[in-house]
Amino acid sequence: MIKVLFVCLGNICRSPLAEAIFNDIVIKNNLQNKIYSDSCGTASYHVGDTPDKRSIKIANLNGIKINHIGRQINKKDFLEFNYILAMDKYNYQDIKFLEQSVNNSIAKVFMMREFDNDNYQEDVPDPYYGNDKDFKEVFDILNKSCNNFFNYLRKENNL
Ligand code: 4NP
Repeated sequence: MIKVLFVCLGNICRSPLAEAIFNDIVIKNNLQNKIYSDSCGTASYHVGDTPDKRSIKIANLNGIKINHIGRQINKKDFLEFNYILAMDKYNYQDIKFLEQSVNNSIAKVFMMREFDNDNYQEDVPDPYYGNDKDFKEVFDILNKSCNNFFNYLRKENNL
């Protein structure tokens, strides 16, 4: 199984949405027996919480279901996940810092927007203090980036 972990700060807005969009692509391509994904946050504020209502709303408007309970990243994730995708540079720095204390990490760590070909900035913007328009922008960025990442994953793993 190829395992992918999407990471943001709180694990209630961006990364559960990325996970849901990516899972939808995996299922549509009938690769759910080969590719697994999960999401988590670098912070612990929302451990045990369901996703933000606005992420649920924009996912549902696009025919995608979100099913996730918030959790924080931990050292074992680096032994289990082949790919870790950070939503922004702060998440990326925190992931790389934690990775230093792990022996034998198998994870390749990327920024999500490395897979956004019309990328005009490196971060998926944090929509937490924003409105529905900000969540729509995040959805569009994640949709593009997840599709491109999926194509990269297929090529790299001959799927
Ligand atoms: P996320 O958004 O990292 O995309 O889940 C946030 C969620 C919660 C907070 C910040 C960002 N917070 O400060 O509680």
